[in-house]
Amino acid sequence: MYDNWEELENDAKQCRKCKLCQTRNNVVFGVGNKNANLMFIGEGPGADEDIQGEPFVGKAGKLMNMAFEAIGLKRDEVYIANIVKCRPPSNRNPEDDEAMACLNYLRNQVILVKPQVIVLLGSVALKNILGKEYGITSSRGKWVEKKGILYMPTWHPAALLRDETKKIDFINDLKQVMDKMSSLVGQNN
Ligand code: URA
Ligand code: SF4
Repeated sequence: MYDNWEELENDAKQCRKCKLCQTRNNVVFGVGNKNANLMFIGEGPGADEDIQGEPFVGKAGKLMNMAFEAIGLKRDEVYIANIVKCRPPSNRNPEDDEAMACLNYLRNQVILVKPQVIVLLGSVALKNILGKEYGITSSRGKWVEKKGILYMPTWHPAALLRDETKKIDFINDLKQVMDKMSSLVGQNN
């Protein structure tokens, strides 16, 4: 357990706990508002993220930014991270041992950010956070509450690049998130 960001980020940036350390250029720690009420969790860095050291800056990220704009959400209002912090070669899915080795960092990020709502982007995020029994096709768009956090599973933005029809689902899921955020703010006042 870490009680401060500096130590957590330093350890992650030097991490060699799984084999992804051998092929990465940069550890992609996470980005955004560390006091955000809303967090997004993706899968792992792609080529652009590996070079720039920031999550969701490539094609999928640009699409995500456009969706954010469409629903009136600012990227710097939220906190964004991934299941694994180093790029899986050829963008393959992270393997279980890699996700297991890395998840402790993400869990600590969640503890430090303390979001009320977390959006799970795609199947890898869903299964690693909520459990293997969840499937993205049946779970997306439906709230799951676990240990005081509300989770909204939705498509991974890269899936929207392959199948345009998923864009409407993605926007609808994010709209549900925005509605929830406003009702939570109402409750807190
Ligand atoms: N896909 C992800 O899951 N995460 C990123 O940071 C970029 C692409
Ligand atoms: Fe460490 Fe995670 Fe990178 Fe593996 S993916 S080396 S566990 S930071």
